[in-house]
Amino acid sequence: MKSGQTLGHVSDLLVVADQAALAQEAAKLVVATAEEAVARCGRFTVALAGGSTPKRLYSLLAAKPYCARLPWQETHIFWGDERVVPPEHPDSNFGMVRAILLSRVPIPANQVHRMQAERADLDAAAGEYEAEIARTFAAQPPDEPPAFDLILLGLGTDGHTASLFPHTPALRETKRWVAPNDIPELKASRLTLTIPILNRAAMILFLVSGIEKAAALQAVLEGPFDPEQLPAQLIRPVTGRLVWLVDQAATSLLSERIG
Ligand code: 6PG
Repeated sequence: MKSGQTLGHVSDLLVVADQAALAQEAAKLVVATAEEAVARCGRFTVALAGGSTPKRLYSLLAAKPYCARLPWQETHIFWGDERVVPPEHPDSNFGMVRAILLSRVPIPANQVHRMQAERADLDAAAGEYEAEIARTFAAQPPDEPPAFDLILLGLGTDGHTASLFPHTPALRETKRWVAPNDIPELKASRLTLTIPILNRAAMILFLVSGIEKAAALQAVLEGPFDPEQLPAQLIRPVTGRLVWLVDQAATSLLSERIG
């Protein structure tokens, strides 16, 4: 792994060879963050990303050696976003994580916090999830959002992250921690964590792999600040650490100085 130039005071760009190396490096980072959180405060709170990139990571976390090192009894799993489908649906981010990871590790069921995005009233589902976060962190909306120990994020080819898509209303949410979001390009709605709570995380880890992400990664990291068009540019931890873990293919359009 080659550590690239630090992108500002809170960002690191870690470049690895390929998808397999990215999953391995991500697993090491997740375990190290979990061990540090439990040593510091007795538990580990993480919001997982959906999509396909993190699947290899989740498989690694469900098997030796990483599974035995993760403090499952002290871990609380949340999601960064969810599609408007039931858990059994093939598009469900929860369903994907349950199949690959949760069905294979000894995490207490009441420490798995699913977004109920299949509910007819998505606004109520957002409020419910916000209340679940509040209960877990003993925080109270609309106070300052709590700080997850770790939030995993992916990057869409259009520069979206979580379910914060270009030119969608949730981008501009400044109070709610969880919001429904209508995404015309998908002809669908989603539930998503919002910028206020995402940027409170102690550590945000982007996982970006593949040549198809090169243009988006270059635009987000090197292009002009244009968050309505490139929502991932809004991810700027208030006090936490931002790590971009990317493979060589995804960095192919970055300028020499950065990649
Ligand atoms: C989702 C994710 C989304 C994803 C990106 C990248 O629900 O799909 O939250 O933000 O991380 O779209 O997806 P891939 O990893 O599949 O490229």
